[in-house]
Amino acid sequence: MNQFTMPSRFYTDAAYFDVEKGQIFHKTWQDVGHISSLAKPGDFLTVRIADENILITRDEEGTLHGFYNVCRHRAHPVASGCGNKRLFVCPYHAWSYRLNGKLQAAPNSENVGGFCKSDIALTEVRLETLAGFIFVNLDKDAKSLNETYPGVEEAVLKACPNLPEMELAFEDRFEHRCNWEVSLENFNECYHCAVVHKFLTTQLYAAETYRADISGNVVKHFLARIRDRETHGDLHCWYLWPNVAIELFPMHRSVSLRHISADGPVSTTYSYSWFIDPNLSEEAKAEVNSLCKQYVETTANEDAEIVEAVQVGLNSKAYDTGPLMISEEITPSSEHAIAHFQALHRDAIAPALAEAEQVPA
Ligand code: FES
Ligand SMILES: [Fe+2]
Repeated sequence: MNQFTMPSRFYTDAAYFDVEKGQIFHKTWQDVGHISSLAKPGDFLTVRIADENILITRDEEGTLHGFYNVCRHRAHPVASGCGNKRLFVCPYHAWSYRLNGKLQAAPNSENVGGFCKSDIALTEVRLETLAGFIFVNLDKDAKSLNETYPGVEEAVLKACPNLPEMELAFEDRFEHRCNWEVSLENFNECYHCAVVHKFLTTQLYAAETYRADISGNVVKHFLARIRDRETHGDLHCWYLWPNVAIELFPMHRSVSLRHISADGPVSTTYSYSWFIDPNLSEEAKAEVNSLCKQYVETTANEDAEIVEAVQVGLNSKAYDTGPLMISEEITPSSEHAIAHFQALHRDAIAPALAEAEQVPA
């Protein structure tokens, strides 16, 4: 029986996007970087997750922390950007916080009756790591990373044991003028690969070998390398609901992380970061770098053009839904992983859907 795509209002309407922020991005594990970016005590970075400012630190004991980046006095952010600090001094009235979030000092507090410094700290968020990548979750009651994505850490580390020791080699980001689901549905099928991605499918991978295996919150993608490219490996990729994928990139066992950030109903940032073994030769590093550039100039650009053009079509009154091309026997062109993505999406927003449906389009 045919399945259809979600109605186009889910990709265009700000009311649905607001529901998704609360029901999806505030309740799922969100990657915030690789542990190499917080290698030393005092290292910190700030990120934004669905309207929330988040601060990640490594304290003097080496423990990683995640906090809401919101001063407990009158709510100014206490940090911006990234770097290395011993204390975070709020720019508004100079309250200072330690790397473990505890309040260090508050000017004039000695004159304020009942003010108890030791009771005050930045509000923590859940933080865990998976194969060297740091994730946070704004839902205190969320299942652990390993329960959410069972077996993924073992599988990734089996394929790439030194991933936690790797370093950033290359990064790039694309602003997709489309809904985040358009970017991710495009990611979760290879029906378009041979049509759209000539470099990918003639130089790197054989499109006819594509497989997408679905299991809970994970879609495992596979593409076999093109045989005469001996420097390349096969592609193994773990898409983790809702908006991140860890991908073994073909050359010199490098790894790419994709993060798809939903910035607005029709505004998405698609980030690519490639990690390599720091002990690779300079020549090998240059080869990886060159392939990353080539990938961005071809495949990533091609996808950006496609998803933006799709969004224009989704805005049209001529379109509402279309059939998903799901083969009875799963084939490389089947769109079954999109159906799965849409089922996860439906399950996630179901508690709030009735309310959302009442919001006028
Ligand atoms: S808001 Fe941070 S010190 Fe006042
Ligand atoms: Fe693509």
